[in-house]
Amino acid sequence: LWVQFEMWDSDEPVPRLELLKKVKGCDGILCVLTEKIDAQLLEAAGPNLKVVSTMSVGFDHLSLDELKKRGIRVGYTPDVLTDCVAELTVALLLATSRRLIEATHEAKTGGWGTWRTLWLCGHELANSTVGILGLGRIGVAIAERLKPFKVKKFIYTDVAPRPELANMIEAEYVSFDELAKQSDFLAVCCALTQETHGICNWNLFSKMKKNAIFINTSRGGVVNQEDLYEALSTGLIAGAGLDVTTPEPLPTHHPLFTLKNCVILPHIASASYTTRNAMSALAANNLLAGLRGEPMPKELKL
Ligand code: DGY
Repeated sequence: LWVQFEMWDSDEPVPRLELLKKVKGCDGILCVLTEKIDAQLLEAAGPNLKVVSTMSVGFDHLSLDELKKRGIRVGYTPDVLTDCVAELTVALLLATSRRLIEATHEAKTGGWGTWRTLWLCGHELANSTVGILGLGRIGVAIAERLKPFKVKKFIYTDVAPRPELANMIEAEYVSFDELAKQSDFLAVCCALTQETHGICNWNLFSKMKKNAIFINTSRGGVVNQEDLYEALSTGLIAGAGLDVTTPEPLPTHHPLFTLKNCVILPHIASASYTTRNAMSALAANNLLAGLRGEPMPKELKL
């Protein structure tokens, strides 16, 4: 296979107009999650386009209906990032529940006085109930890592029970409401779809425990951020750790940044050298297989 390719050689996203111009006549596109692959872009590319390969496990930036309609195949990068994302999720959970960011700030800026009984107390995993919203590969990997912290019980909810995954971590299937009510730690691990858009809203937060820690490493769109701000600032829940927000980057003046009990990371869950290398190799191999008309290593069935 002889491939002529043009690469956007920058860490900054390619400007939309530039992209719309450059895709004209392409047979394949390798993109990242900052590129919206929608009807406009597919029209601009034209009828040659056979394959879109995204270097991400998430695919909410792709208009799947439009791709399907045109018979365009889609590659993505599940599995290779699972360990890395789970590891970061645990790091974010601990940073939030044990108030690490606040603590280093206090230490550095003179807030560290004598040892005080209740100063910077947080919540521990031992004996806790951990809830997983959307049980997939990543949810399982998070639970496997949390188990040695002596978690008492794992519970999850999803559109339907997923016994084959749940058995791996002895997790119990519960309703959405029970997940909210029982979880001491709630990790959101679902894909962003029409069904999950904004599901972490007042209805969820108002049922959660006062000591609960909310963690999101999936997509910002699953959270209603106004409701989350309200829940955090009024002490309805204890804390939140977010690796994803709406929009990204989250403007520095955003109210969530004013809260001590909200830890915000700039979408770095898959950011290890090993994983980003694996993701780019997989995305390239998906693209090449798609161009050859062969089965892709990881194809998203449309
Ligand atoms: C993904 O792959 O969808 C992440 O958000 C970036 O790794």
